[in-house]
Order: sequence, then C-alpha cells, then structure tokens
Amino acid sequence: MTPSPSDSPAVLHTVALAQPFTDQKPGTSGLRKSSQRFATPHYLESFVEASLRVLPGVAGGTLVLGGDGRFGNLAAIQTIARMAAAHGVARLITTTGGILSTPAASHLIRQHQAVGGVILSASHNPGGPEGDFGVKINGANGGPTPESITDAIYETTLSLDSYRILEAAPLPLDQPGSHVLEEMTVEVIDGVDDYAALMRRLFDFDRLAALLKGDFRFAFDALHAVTGPYAARIFEGQLGAPAGTVRNGVPLEDFGGGHPDPNLTYAHDLAALLLEGDAYDFGAACDGDGDRNMILGRRCFVNPSDSLAVLTANATLAPGYAEGLAGVARSMPTSAAADVVAKALGLPCFETPTGWKFFGNLLDAGRITLCGEESFGTGSNHIREKDGLWAVLFWLQILAVRNCSVAEVMTDHWQRYGRHYYSRHDYEAIASDAAHALYSRVKGQLPALVGERFAGRSIALADDFAYTDPVDASVSEGQGLRLLLDDGSRVVLRLSGTGTQGATLRVYLESYVPPSGALNQDPQLALADLISAIDALAEIKERTGMDRPTVIT
Ligand code: G1P
Ligand code: ZN
Repeated sequence: MTPSPSDSPAVLHTVALAQPFTDQKPGTSGLRKSSQRFATPHYLESFVEASLRVLPGVAGGTLVLGGDGRFGNLAAIQTIARMAAAHGVARLITTTGGILSTPAASHLIRQHQAVGGVILSASHNPGGPEGDFGVKINGANGGPTPESITDAIYETTLSLDSYRILEAAPLPLDQPGSHVLEEMTVEVIDGVDDYAALMRRLFDFDRLAALLKGDFRFAFDALHAVTGPYAARIFEGQLGAPAGTVRNGVPLEDFGGGHPDPNLTYAHDLAALLLEGDAYDFGAACDGDGDRNMILGRRCFVNPSDSLAVLTANATLAPGYAEGLAGVARSMPTSAAADVVAKALGLPCFETPTGWKFFGNLLDAGRITLCGEESFGTGSNHIREKDGLWAVLFWLQILAVRNCSVAEVMTDHWQRYGRHYYSRHDYEAIASDAAHALYSRVKGQLPALVGERFAGRSIALADDFAYTDPVDASVSEGQGLRLLLDDGSRVVLRLSGTGTQGATLRVYLESYVPPSGALNQDPQLALADLISAIDALAEIKERTGMDRPTVIT
C-alpha cells in the first residue's frame, strides 16, 4: 500500500453554498443534465453530498465509483473520492482510467458487499462539453436506488447549505494499486476482470469460442463508449474472435461525436452492415454505459421486446440458467411477447413501470430470473442492472447451441408463439409546454374513450398505468397512458424521464398476430392503422409541429 498521494496532510473543508440547487430531482436513471450545467461551481458536489448523506451505511462502508469515460468522468471521480473520504467511507473501489460499465459496477457492489455505488454516466445521451453528464446512485443490492431514496436525495438538495470535501492531491488512476486518502482506503482495480469472470460462469465459453473461431462472422460496435475494453477482452481476447470484431472500441470523451445509443438510427453503420449486406451473421452494439444492447442478424433486426421473449424461451441453453427460470418481468410499454412464452412455460410474468429500479425487488425476492424493456435493455438476477454484453453473449450461446441463424431463431419463435408487431416512435426535444399539454389532454379524455372506436377496433381499457409492487406493496402512479383494444392491440403514450432538452414523447405501438397469421410484414405497415389513429386522437403532428418521429424503433 502506498501512502496518501499528497505529501502534506489532507485538510477537511466544509464548503458553504450561497443557495441550494433546485433542479437536482433524479429522473428514470439518476441525475442527468448537460455537461454545461454540471460545470456550474458546486453543482456536482451538491448532488453527491445529498446522496452521501442519504445512502445508508456510507460512514464505515465500502463504495464503488466509476463511469463510462465521457467528458467529466475523471474529474468527477477525483472530486467524489475526496468527498467520500470526508464522509467517512472506509473503502473506495474505483477502476483504472475511471472506466466502469453500469453492469460491471452493479456486479462490483454485490461482490464486495458495498453500501452502494456512484456511476458517472448519462447512458446513451451524447457526451463532451456540449453533451450530457450524469450521476447514478446505486444501492447495496447493486441496483438503482428506490424512489424513497431518490426522493430523499432530492429533498436534501433543496435545503443544502454546505458540503464536505477533503483537500488532497489527485489519485493516480492510470494503473491498479492501493492508496489511502486520510482514513479511507482506495483500491484502483481493473474494471473488466470481475465482470468477465462473471460472464464465464453464466455462459459456455468453450462453445462460444468454437463458434467465434469458426466461419461465423460477428461485428460488435462499442460506439466509442464504455464497452470497448470489455468487448475486446471477452470477444477477441478470451473467445478468440478475429481482431477487428470490436469496432469503435476505444472509449472517447465525446464518443467520437456520436450518439451512443444502440438503435437503428444512432448505430446506423452497424445496422447498414447487417441489414443491407450479407458479409456478417451477427451484429451487436451497446450504449454509452454498457447496459443496453441491440441484436442484429443477417438482414434481420431483433426487436428488444422479442429479444426478451427469445431469451426466456431459450434460457436453459445457457449453463447459468440451465435449471430454469423463477419468472420473468417486462416494463409496461414492452410488448407482451415474453408473456406468451411465460404462459407456455408456466412461469410467473410481471408488468412493471418503465425503469430498471422496479425489477430490483422482484429479483431480490427471487420472483423473477429474467427481465427486460423495449428500450434495448435485458438482464437477469446475475446483477441488478440491465446488461448489454450479457445479452450479446446470451444470443451467441443460443446461436452456438442451436446452430442456426438469427432470422431462423425469430421465424421459429413466431411460428410457435405468434408475433407481436411492435414499434416505438419518439418525438424528441419538443417544447415542454406543448408536450405536457398534449399529454394532459389525452389523459383527461381517457375515461370517455372506453368503448369508442379506434383503428377499426373498440377501446377495451384506457388508463394511466399504476403499479403496486408485489414485494413491498409500494404504489407508483402516473406511469403511462394505455389504450388497450379489443383484439389485444395496444397504444401507450409516455413522456421521457431521461431527456435533457425540452420533452420527449414516446408512442409505443403493438399488435399481435397468432402463429397462423401473417408473420413477415414490415412492422410499420402492420401498425399503420394504429399509427394514424393515435396521431388523430392525440393530435401529435399538429401539437408537436413535427411531421415524423425523430427515432423509430
Ligand atoms: C428510457 C427508457 C427506459 C429506460 C431508461 C434508462 O427512459 O425508455 O426504458 O429504463 O431510459 O435507460 P425514458 O426516457 O423513457 O424515461
Ligand atoms: Zn445505458
């Protein structure tokens, strides 16, 4: 162990705030703001102070700290380390270069029985001085803290008058090592090692290596974000995939100017490679902090709702799930494809509000093994976050065992369970007032809509989704406007809780076709009548001034 990085003794400061910040209410996943906002003096410190005051067990406990490598990551780690020391944290675990994916952080928290973690990321939002930054606070189970904690953090920020921080020289983060900051031990570890070992316990690495060393052609796009080092180590290093399998594998502070969101719009290079050519069998991408995934086959896009259903149906092919599943959960806007599989397998199936934190209780209580969201998030009880590379490895495992293509897996799935045509239309950066007016108007109409005609069907249920947690009975209201039609089709409207510019309206469209129906239509065509009916009802084009969505999934 080396002595404190500072030669002179560290000094504890209590820094007074002229006035508290009033805009630090955590959203769907932590506090997310523009990098410029975070550059406001004391802004980061205010939120971290509130978090360290509220999170149980901080004094004397272990804390995990790292981030997705975006602009501001390293500076924030230095600041937070000094604040952690000032708050009596006994042991801080951080990573070389400050690089730590969200799923790897979740694993480290659990592995080291930490009281929680601070993950620096704005997930799939662009980075850089003109982009976004974010702080996520995870709890002792490794998952996002529940609303009771995030509400308490927000309350604390509203009346905060000072924060505590140690004055000390910067920690050396360029290589693994142990240091001390006053009473606090700091362990700088490799952020990939433990995560890679966990993946090796869940999947059959020999079998995957045989697949990847053969003539199977795989392209992985890290979008210059956090998964680059993980993917290079696992796919190319441990599984022997050819060098170059991992594209854009070096994390950059601004993600190379891109938008690190693995969807057809923002991961367009990979999408073109797989969907417009025949050179590759399998393609995958992950987002800024590594918790999202997109799965592509040759000329085949796997809708994330379908991906959850496929993993559920094929789970026992992976060694980590060979004994079967306890249950499965999906967020409300996610299609019911997984429900159909769960029913066939006799598994409990839960419908939760949007956001990963709602899966935590079900996972902790052993009620579910797999869970997922339509927003390219899938995960399991191995950690308490969604996990991008885990999903990619799971798909590789299925393809290796079944020895078939992605398109064949999908066709076989639909022929067995039927197909849920599904699409999400996002209208981004709408003026906040217009978005809220649109939403309130539809919300006000809901009671009168039941029994009305909609896209040639009748509306069977119209409500604002509310959820009672089956484990702790907590109630979450106002989780999205649902129109359920009498043939099982569905349209959902939500306002995003993660955007940083104006408001984002999300329109989720779903329509089910049984195994005997037309299984190979273009989803946009299959859903065309729902798309025009919701536009007419909610006056989307007129009120947003946009004639098409920003992103179509
Ligand atoms: C979005 C997704 C949601 C996901 C969240 C964090 O939230 O829709 O499923 O959990 O990002 O990755 P939203 O912006 O819709 O509130
Ligand atoms: Zn993410």
